[in-house]
Amino acid sequence: MPPHEGLALYQAAVQAAATSGPLLEIGSYCGKSTIYLAAAARAASTRAASTRAASTRDTAAPVITLDHHRGSEEHQPGWEYHDPDLVDPVTGRIDTLPVLRRVLATAGVEDTVTVIVGDSATVAAIWATPLALLFIDGGHTDAAAQADYHGWAPHLRPGGLLVIHDVFEDPADGGQAPYRIFRTALDRDGFHQVAATGSLRVLQRGETVQSGTPANSAAVGPAGSSPPSKTARVAGSPASAASASSTAPAVQEVRSSGHTARSGTT
Ligand SMILES: C[S@@+](CC[C@H](N)C(=O)[O-])C[C@H]1O[C@@H](n2cnc3c(N)ncnc32)[C@H](O)[C@@H]1O
Repeated sequence: MPPHEGLALYQAAVQAAATSGPLLEIGSYCGKSTIYLAAAARAASTRAASTRAASTRDTAAPVITLDHHRGSEEHQPGWEYHDPDLVDPVTGRIDTLPVLRRVLATAGVEDTVTVIVGDSATVAAIWATPLALLFIDGGHTDAAAQADYHGWAPHLRPGGLLVIHDVFEDPADGGQAPYRIFRTALDRDGFHQVAATGSLRVLQRGETVQSGTPANSAAVGPAGSSPPSKTARVAGSPASAASASSTAPAVQEVRSSGHTARSGTT
């Protein structure tokens, strides 16, 4: 995730964190986007405390980050963005959880972030708390993106923010699975777009939830798997992130796993 998209996520999260409900991320990977969310939750809390806004929270909104930590398709051996350093020597499988925990500890946000290790659809099926913000950045096959959207969007409270990463309108720029759920949210489910930065889209759920919400509708069934979009894995750029905004979180050198435009890099 490049800094300008991270800051757009941060700004959306500041807005959402001033309301009620947790901020939930699908796709922790090594924690880069999680830090933006945690910094936003804290900034909103500090702002509310300084203005003594009785109607807003005085403790940071909980940030929940969810991942099975086995990596997406593009992280597996033989794929372009496989990182052998992330393979557990005992199981022989990708395991990003230790890196995530180290990143959150180093950033000093462990008290703000709750880590859930599990499959997105499985956790969605037992989730019960209305969300202030939902950030979808998990698997990028059609099956994965559809499962994330249909499983989690119903948990977003009216007026809540839905943020989707790697939305490419032009198939020449990247995989279309995130774009398809973005279109479903806009065209069918009563969301409207409030911001677009790079491949990051911020949508807001209408205050009145549509009758055909994803949870109650079998429409737009997940298609078969399609190849994930191209990705680039580069280290974060704390200098550029910090210079982009005086309120920007200090993102350390965190592994980035953004799916990106074929012509660009994260
Ligand atoms: C693109 S990376 C997330 C990048 C991260 N948001 C960032 O900006 O640094 C996608 C992550 O989704 C996770 N993932 C893929 N499918 C999943 C599923 N069904 N349930 C939970 N996590 C999943 C992968 O393990 C991977 O870590």
